[in-house]
Amino acid sequence: MSTPSLLALDAVDAFYDRSHVLQALSMEVESGTVVALLGRNGAGKTTTLKTVMGIVPVRAGRLRFDGADVTGLPTHRIARLGIAYVPEDRGIFASLTVHEHLTLANVPDGWPLGRIYEAFPRLAERRDHRGTQLSGGEQQMLSIARALTLAPRLLILDEPTEGLAPVIVEEIAAIAGRLKTEGLTMLLVEQNYPFAARIADRVYVLGKGRIRWHGAPAALDADEEVKHTWLGI
Ligand SMILES: Nc1ncnc2c1ncn2[C@@H]1O[C@H](COP(=O)(O)OP(=O)(O)OP(=O)(O)O)[C@@H](O)[C@H]1O
Ligand SMILES: [Mg+2]
Repeated sequence: MSTPSLLALDAVDAFYDRSHVLQALSMEVESGTVVALLGRNGAGKTTTLKTVMGIVPVRAGRLRFDGADVTGLPTHRIARLGIAYVPEDRGIFASLTVHEHLTLANVPDGWPLGRIYEAFPRLAERRDHRGTQLSGGEQQMLSIARALTLAPRLLILDEPTEGLAPVIVEEIAAIAGRLKTEGLTMLLVEQNYPFAARIADRVYVLGKGRIRWHGAPAALDADEEVKHTWLGI
């Protein structure tokens, strides 16, 4: 018997009111792999992640996590299964310090503070800075670091490199590479194609709410038509 995927979407449909945004969307994230979901603005990438998190309801199709049907579960229960979500807006609290963000949760198997500060030296230096005093890159790091305190089995990142300077993108790439080496399963939404191609084991290309292509990053790199039509590259 083959091992089931950690996360599987099976012909998922999702709507905003009457607007049919995700159409028969199927994808799988196998344990220990990094999957990138790519697509242009408005393709439905964030909606896909919100559907996984139970923020946007699944109207048709099934959602499975670790072999169990989790379709329709509320967000807090999805989170408790071990899915940590770093949203596009990063969700940092203006008035809380770095340290407070990292000690809000008390999850026994989560990364301890020492390990977090070792992996994110910028956060260690700024442990007493409040959310409003952090740069975009620091906020992104804090959002990822906070997710790691939750002992995720699946880490979901929505455009972690958006709006960041190349040097900070490199730091995020190094952190993501380290997490991958440690065997953390990740689902990554990106518009930064080189970043995604570098870290992902498998890529899904989303266009107008449907999966248009999936395969290995090298195969996508060789497919000029898919890149041109669905990614605008
Ligand atoms: N809350 C909402 N209500 C109504 N329509 C929405 C809502 N959020 C998104 N949409 C629409 O759903 C479609 C998919 O949006 P989504 O945010 O999933 O795209 P995306 O691929 O994440 O884009 P981006 O790269 O710009 O973040 C778009 O047409 C968008 O306008
Ligand atoms: Mg988005």
